[in-house]
Amino acid sequence: MEVVLRKGGQDRMGIKIGFLGAGRIARALAQGLLRDRENSWDLVASTRTRESGEAFVKAVPRARLYPQERNRELVQESDIVFLCVKPREVVGVLRQVRPATVGKWIVSVAAGVSLASMVEEVDPSARILRAMPNLPSLVGQGVTPYCLGPGWSASDREQAKKLLERFGVAVELEERFFPLVTVLAGCGPAYFCAFLIPLLEFATERGLSAPEARRMLLSTFSGAAELLKQTELDPAEVVHESRTPGGITNAAITVLEQKEWQATLRSALDAAWSRAKTLEES
Ligand SMILES: NC(=O)c1ccc[n+]([C@@H]2O[C@H](COP(=O)([O-])OP(=O)(O)OC[C@H]3O[C@@H](n4cnc5c(N)ncnc54)[C@H](OP(=O)(O)O)[C@@H]3O)[C@@H](O)[C@H]2O)c1
Repeated sequence: MEVVLRKGGQDRMGIKIGFLGAGRIARALAQGLLRDRENSWDLVASTRTRESGEAFVKAVPRARLYPQERNRELVQESDIVFLCVKPREVVGVLRQVRPATVGKWIVSVAAGVSLASMVEEVDPSARILRAMPNLPSLVGQGVTPYCLGPGWSASDREQAKKLLERFGVAVELEERFFPLVTVLAGCGPAYFCAFLIPLLEFATERGLSAPEARRMLLSTFSGAAELLKQTELDPAEVVHESRTPGGITNAAITVLEQKEWQATLRSALDAAWSRAKTLEES
């Protein structure tokens, strides 16, 4: 199968993408694809129940929706299939669609499901890519670590990377790093948002409107991220530079240190790591 992702200015073409599973990550990926102005995407998704299907079609009105009984047909019709069901459902779904997987590209985003276990369940001519996208893929600002199963040609590898770059940054990594990148990139947006909640509450309790607080804090954090991206500064240096003895930042950071917040964060990461390793080994 040949999938050519065009550069701007060339003819647009319809690339048929099928989503097996139409939940949270499928919605983010589908919306991310629809932001792409260089290619046109023909989207179809399947779900187990009506509820998740309705949420998908609301977010992606031009997508077609199939019940799970038509999963095989969905794969047959698609150039590229995104496998977006829960990890425990992956093997069953692949067995159901196997006859239709001849020559297809299958992008699995299921946490903890190895390439080897999926390769066994599809036609030998199918190409499997394992990826761990995150929710900012919806706005083209995601980070997608990925690794490839057997049989990818050099030009297909390049095309696959281009496909994932529709969602933001794509990083090819050895599969053994997947539990780690899941803990960091997959879960990272939730850590950031959890951190933001008390800051927003603090601001609005003191009279700033919610939209003002949101705009100001988001610009502050994206500015801090940009500062690190564009300079050689180390995060510890930024903390040090901001921390005048007797000053305001110092008062805040001192309390964070007294409360051993870094140890708390490390415990949270250890818990996520342990869950990711368990999934990977199950
Ligand atoms: N959420 C994230 O940020 C994220 C990030 C990276 C990777 N992932 C991975 O993405 C996968 C999905 O996660 P999610 O958070 O999107 O879960 P979710 O919201 O629960 O979505 C799962 C979807 O699969 C559907 N489904 C279940 N069995 C099916 C079948 N046999 N055929 C077709 N569809 C079926 C579900 O339908 P019903 O709702 O009707 O049961 C639902 O639409 C997981 O493997 C997860 O590890 C998630």
